[in-house]
Amino acid sequence: MKSFRVVVFVLILLSLTSDCHAALKAGFYVGKCGKQNVESIIRNVVRQRFARDPTIVAALLRMQFHDCFVSGCDASVLLNGARSEKTAPPNLSLRGFDLIERAKAAVEKACPRVVSCADIIAVAARDAVFLSKGMNYRVQTGRRDGVVSLASNVNLPGPGISVSQSMGFFANKGFSTREMVLLIGGGHSVGVAHCSLFQNRLYNFRNTGRPDPSMDVNLANRLRGRCPQRSAIDNLVNLDQTPSSALVVDNGFYKQIKARRGILEIDQAMAFHSSTSAIVTSFANNGKSFQTQFGAAMIKMGAMQVLTGKKGEIRKTCGARPRRSS
Ligand code: HEM
Repeated sequence: MKSFRVVVFVLILLSLTSDCHAALKAGFYVGKCGKQNVESIIRNVVRQRFARDPTIVAALLRMQFHDCFVSGCDASVLLNGARSEKTAPPNLSLRGFDLIERAKAAVEKACPRVVSCADIIAVAARDAVFLSKGMNYRVQTGRRDGVVSLASNVNLPGPGISVSQSMGFFANKGFSTREMVLLIGGGHSVGVAHCSLFQNRLYNFRNTGRPDPSMDVNLANRLRGRCPQRSAIDNLVNLDQTPSSALVVDNGFYKQIKARRGILEIDQAMAFHSSTSAIVTSFANNGKSFQTQFGAAMIKMGAMQVLTGKKGEIRKTCGARPRRSS
């Protein structure tokens, strides 16, 4: 009886310690793919694409946000299916799925069924940030892929969300107001938005018959040219309006919104809301502190509700789950 109790105790202890080991860490794949360097394989794929198309940076950053904020960083956003997350309206304009699949094929060739799609998103997003002059933060790995992907789980905010609603949304997921300003600002320091998502600010803002008074008049005039009313074409506009930094992950976004040159309503509102304006000013004035804190916020975002250890699975391709053998 006594030895039985000892065995049970040891088993409980083992299961507890194996859980402790199942955490994310930098360099998780070192030694797990023969002599191959998994992160270099992914970086090469990102670098090749970036050389042809630097807008891939924005695509990867947004993809990680949309993956992590919906049922955790588990690559559920990549799964195909009639009702999968991909089909939810906020995800219809996501880009970069082909790059992730290309990186997956490259790591599968080096060592099959070792590297998760969720880790590929995180590593590729970090590489993209670094390639576009952002911080080379120490990305953590060790995630496994989720098995559930449902459009009905996608509850991402729209561009008209207020600052206080957005603070609530981020707080619910464990992020402070400062981290919210970092993530939205760092994310929107690159990339584009469709006219349809901010057109309300250009013509008849909140039924006033006038443009949004918080938008710089010259910018509003220019954007009306780019986004005509009742146009069949939904044009794209840079989220960071300084041409030289529209593709650079930097603090230029904060300077722009302070100058009333934000594109999305939420971006502009952060510059003047009492809870966020001082944070915006501090990042506008200090590019270095923005970079280090943005890196830390990305690491935190990448750790949201991750599956590690024996949880989840490692897919063979990122768009589909392995078929069950019958
Ligand atoms: C309250 C939170 C947020 C809202 C309401 C929001 C909303 C939006 C909207 C409406 C667009 C334009 C989409 C389109 O026109 O197709 C956009 C683009 C983008 N967002 Fe956000 N976003 C938020 C937070 C974030 C965060 C946290 C990140 C990343 C850390 C991020 C990264 C991006 C990027 C990179 C783009 C450009 C994508 C591209 O060029 O393809 N966003 N966002």
